Amino acid sequence: MNFLKFFYFIAILSPYALYAQDHKKMMDQMAMSDSRKPVKLNAMMAKHQLANMREHLNAVQEIIAAMSDRNFQGMKIASQKLATTPQMAMMCEHMGQMTPGFTQMGMALHTEADKLVVLADKKDYNGFVKQLSVTTKTCTSCHAQFKQEIIP
Ligand code: HEC
Repeated sequence: MNFLKFFYFIAILSPYALYAQDHKKMMDQMAMSDSRKPVKLNAMMAKHQLANMREHLNAVQEIIAAMSDRNFQGMKIASQKLATTPQMAMMCEHMGQMTPGFTQMGMALHTEADKLVVLADKKDYNGFVKQLSVTTKTCTSCHAQFKQEIIP
């Protein structure tokens, strides 16, 4: 290869090389910035877990709707949808069986939601608002720690 040919060769290839390098850097950065641990679930459980999650978000929405009417009965009923029940505990146990720490974080949500039920019963509006903040923090702290990984 003479010098000119070599020069063309490099000139043509370098934008691709730069692009590939940039792309790889970006992907690496994305992987690095996502330090969430995998919660290992098979495909069916993964779908089921997301459906549970959407129900949880619905419950939060219903809680806030009831709060906007100062409807303590409604606040209580919606909070009960997040509270601890034997079925809820079994579900958390099931989802976290392959992921240390996951079940505990799930149960933390339900334990905090139990307190919402009590506060709604007592008609303690301000206490309820504070406790809703504590409760929804258990959502966001689990989301900060875990992401789904589908296993066969
Ligand atoms: C024990 C851990 C944990 C707790 C507690 C938790 N979540 Fe999640 N949630 C997850 C995981 C894991 C995902 C999947 C995230 C991923 O793979 O990127 C998820 C996903 C979701 C999604 C997306 C659903 C979809 O269809 O994609 C919603 C909405 C959600 N959570 C709402 C909530 C709300 C609201 C709460 C609290 C009331 C809550 N979650 C508490 C672990 C948790």
